Parts: sequence; structure tokens; C-alpha cells
Amino acid sequence: MAELHQIVAGLGADITVLGPDDLASRDPGWDGANLGASALAMPASTEAAARLVRWCAENNVQMVSQGGRTGLTGAGRSAKGQVILSTAKLAAIHEIDPLERVAVVGAGVTLQALQEACAPHGLEPGIDLAARGSATIGGMLSTNAGGILAFRNGVMRHRLLGIEVVLPDGSVMTDLTRVVKTSAGYDLKHLFVGAEGTLGFITRAVLKLDALIAGRASAMVGVKDAASALRIIRHFLGLSGVQLCGAELMWQDFARFNATAHGVAAGQMPLDAPAVLLLELASGDGDSAREMLEEGLGALWGEAGILDAVVAQSLDQRDRLWHLREDTETIYRHYPGAASYDVSVPASLCDAYVARIREGFAAIDPALKPYVFGHIADGNLHIIFNRPGTLDDELSARVDEVLYTGLAGQGGSFSAEHGVGIKKRRAYELYADPVKRAVARSIKQTLDPKNLFNPGKVVAL
Ligand code: LAC
Ligand code: ZN
Repeated sequence: MAELHQIVAGLGADITVLGPDDLASRDPGWDGANLGASALAMPASTEAAARLVRWCAENNVQMVSQGGRTGLTGAGRSAKGQVILSTAKLAAIHEIDPLERVAVVGAGVTLQALQEACAPHGLEPGIDLAARGSATIGGMLSTNAGGILAFRNGVMRHRLLGIEVVLPDGSVMTDLTRVVKTSAGYDLKHLFVGAEGTLGFITRAVLKLDALIAGRASAMVGVKDAASALRIIRHFLGLSGVQLCGAELMWQDFARFNATAHGVAAGQMPLDAPAVLLLELASGDGDSAREMLEEGLGALWGEAGILDAVVAQSLDQRDRLWHLREDTETIYRHYPGAASYDVSVPASLCDAYVARIREGFAAIDPALKPYVFGHIADGNLHIIFNRPGTLDDELSARVDEVLYTGLAGQGGSFSAEHGVGIKKRRAYELYADPVKRAVARSIKQTLDPKNLFNPGKVVAL
């Protein structure tokens, strides 16, 4: 009898298929279990994707959609008997309209490819994140990714104008609206944003674009705490003629860890301060941005409690400063598979929150230390532990309790931008509103009654 990948390969020449032997030799990405499926199928068009999904649905074959495989919650994990729906061959940039400032793209386009295609038009996607080289638009929509610019431009949901999705029965929902305004009934495209492949397979999207930021200047600023960082951020947000386009905070243990990993000596960045704020300003040209940054920091020095600052003097130095924040793989290389968390905390509560979780972790086990860093301007904190591997169930539950208790009541979120996947499933059941979970289940039941799309992720039927 033919194996699953052989049958899927027979569905058409426009579907490229890899079998388990091929998959075993491929890079699984950021989760070792991503390529456990019996087949990986790469449809080359929406029509091919629909044909593939219809066949799987008729034959009760479960499907897991995958983009760049750089997700952090296990949403891309797949198992024997399942078929991976890959967006790899849906990677065309169909259109960039500089007047309308929209891009129409296949779901498999990487963020970086879109950034590069927009740049000659003086435009950019208005969203940016460390995994730009691998993260795909489809994957970013599926997790409602946020990243570095979310505090000013919103998250993927706010960048999305139109969508095309193959539903779990193989039908295609086409809503390729390219205008901001549409109040024509339920705006269903948002159902698929953050659904992590449990409701549909996104094949195409229309995204809003923004003007490309021309001149940039960056600085690393040593600060006492998040409150001090927020005072600095508020100052730059209030200036005219300049845009704040990056405000990342690294608490000292993270800053020191990455400085050591990258061989950065003391003096090259502020490592004595309790926290380091990485700021980026944009203006007409790099020189004026740098002047405004230096002026602003000088004026704020005493009042905002600035302890130290290094302003990048060249693009190369700017890139090196940003690499120190963005290269979080250093931690995972040191502590393979380390447990990581991604919370949103109302920005003004960040100091109290970080103090509380540190105390909470110390009470559980004094050797359990968190590296804390994140997108401070919108209160999105990332936390990675200093130990390899996942935490055992009991420890994990206690850590969740420290991290998530009271967070929703304060207006925060237990998952800011990485999604729920598998790894945050328990937190979802315990900390998400029960009525919201019931509604989510009924939506899943309606769209995917046979539970074939990314089963076991996000919502349990
Ligand atoms: C970052 C990813 C982990 O901000 O969200 O580096
Ligand atoms: Zn992030």
C-alpha cells in the first residue's frame, strides 16, 4: 500500500511533497518536533492548497500548517499520520502599490523579503522582529506577531487589510479587501489572526505599508528601572520631527549574559545599570536623528535617572547594539530547550511585576533565575530560565502561578506575541476567561468539526 506522502504527491504536480526520510534530515527549526509528520506538502497555489486540504478532510487526515518554523510555543509540532501544510511555495509578492501603500503577498513570504521588496518604493511593512529572516507573513498572522514596532504601529492584526484562507473542509474564504474601512458585517479575517492554524490555512494577505524610515540612530542607555525607561520613551514620543522606532529593555542579567556571549567588554555598553534601554530614533537623516538622541538624553539625564549611555556612531555599531538585544539564541545555546515566557504587562506596572516574579521564583527555588527583557514601550516582557529543558509539570505549574496570577485582572496577557500552541495550553485553560474559551471552542467546532486543523493546539475540543 502506498504511504501517505506518496498518495499526497499524487494530488497534483503543483504540490511538492517530502516524505518522512526527507523530513528526518531537514532542520526542524525552533522546535525539535516540528517535522514529525508523515508528509510535508508545499502547494504552489491557493487552488492546489484547497485541493490538498479537501483530500485530507475527506480522508480524515490531520493537518499542521507551517511557515518559517520559528514559533516558540510548539504550534508547529507535527506527528506521524499528519500532513504538514507548508507555505514555502506560496512565497510570491504579488503586488506592492506605493500609492495605496498596500502589499499583496503569499503567506510564505518572509518578513525580510517583504521589507526588501518595499524599500525601493520608500515603504516598509511597519512591523519588525528579530526572526525577520525566517518568520513568514502567514506565520506572523497566525500568532498575531508584534515585535519591535508594535508600540507605534500595532501588531499583525492592525497591519492586515485582507486575507485568503483555505478552511478545514477545503473551501476558500476570499476577503482580499485592500481598504482600511470595511464595516460589511463580521470582520471574519481577524478570526484567523492568532488562531495558529487551528481554523484555516492562510494562503494570501493584503497588508498595510508605512513610509520607510530613512535615518536612524540608536543608543544603549543604562537606567535604574522600567519607570525610568518609560520616562525617556514618553519624552521621545512627544517630540515632533522625529520618530521613536525602538525601545527595548534588557534587565541586567540578560544584558550581561548577552554581552559576555558576544565578547562585549564593560565600557562598550552600560552593564552596571540595573537595566539597559536600547533606543532607536528616526529622522530625515542619521545625523539629525543622532543629534536629537544625544540632545534628548542630555536633557533627561538627571530627571529620568539615566546612569550611563552609549550612542552608536556608525551603522555598524548600531547593528552590533541591536544584535545584543535580538540574538536570544545565545541563551538557548547555553540552556538548550530552556523554558520561555512571553507576557504583556501594563507598562506602568512592569517594575512591580518583575520584582514580584523574581521573588516568586526565588521562593520556589533560589537557583531558578530568569533572564528578563522585552518590548518595554508596550509592556511585552520575555522571560527565559537559566536551566536547560522544559520544567517538570509541578515546577511548571508553580512558575505559571507566579507569572500569571492576577495578570489578566491588571489588563495584561499571559501570551503577548508568541501564541498558545502547546506550551501555553495549560495556562490558557487556567488563566483565560471561561466564557471566552467556550466561545472559542464553539468557533473551532463550527469551522473544524472533525478537529483536523492543528489538533491539540490552542483550543481543546
Ligand atoms: C524577541 C522574540 C523572542 O523579541 O519575541 O526577541
Ligand atoms: Zn519579542
